[in-house]
Order: sequence, then structure tokens, then C-alpha cells
Amino acid sequence: MSEPVVYDRAPAELDLEPGEYWWCACGRSMTQPFCDGSHEGTEFEPVPFVIEEKSTVWLCNCKHSKDKPFCDGSHNDLPDDIF
Ligand code: FES
Ligand code: FES
Repeated sequence: MSEPVVYDRAPAELDLEPGEYWWCACGRSMTQPFCDGSHEGTEFEPVPFVIEEKSTVWLCNCKHSKDKPFCDGSHNDLPDDIF
């Protein structure tokens, strides 16, 4: 399994409306933290998730969370030279 690109070491804080979203797992999207199809040709797939009611979320930008698509603090454990 190859490693995802670390887009940022901090999560994206977003106010999301109800709906279905696709979080970028590969780190290559130009529309972070959401998938724009740039994972094509890689082994990564976007992670779909549903927001039931308007809410503030913190989506993982480092792509190493164990609770994808949400930040779980794993960005704090990344080595300094990974980004
Ligand atoms: Fe990253 Fe689609 S662009 S998962
Ligand atoms: Fe990835 Fe926090 S930004 S775990």
C-alpha cells in the first residue's frame, strides 16, 4: 500500500449542509478536502460520508487519520520530514 500525499498537517474545519460528500483519501485533489477524481490510476478511492443535519466538522487533511474522513489527531504523530 503506497502512502497518501499529506495535503496539510491540520484538519479542514467546515460547516457542511446536509448531503453526501466524498473525502479525498489520496491527497492529490485540487479541491481539498474533497475528491476531484485525481486519484485515478492510484490505489486510493474517495471515502463517502453523509451529513444528516447542518454541522461543523473537522476533516482530515493529512490523510493519515484512523477515523476517516474525520481528523483524529494522527497528524500530530507524523514525522517532521513527511511534508
Ligand atoms: Fe483523492 Fe479522489 S482525488 S481520493
Ligand atoms: Fe489528519 Fe488530523 S489532519 S488526523
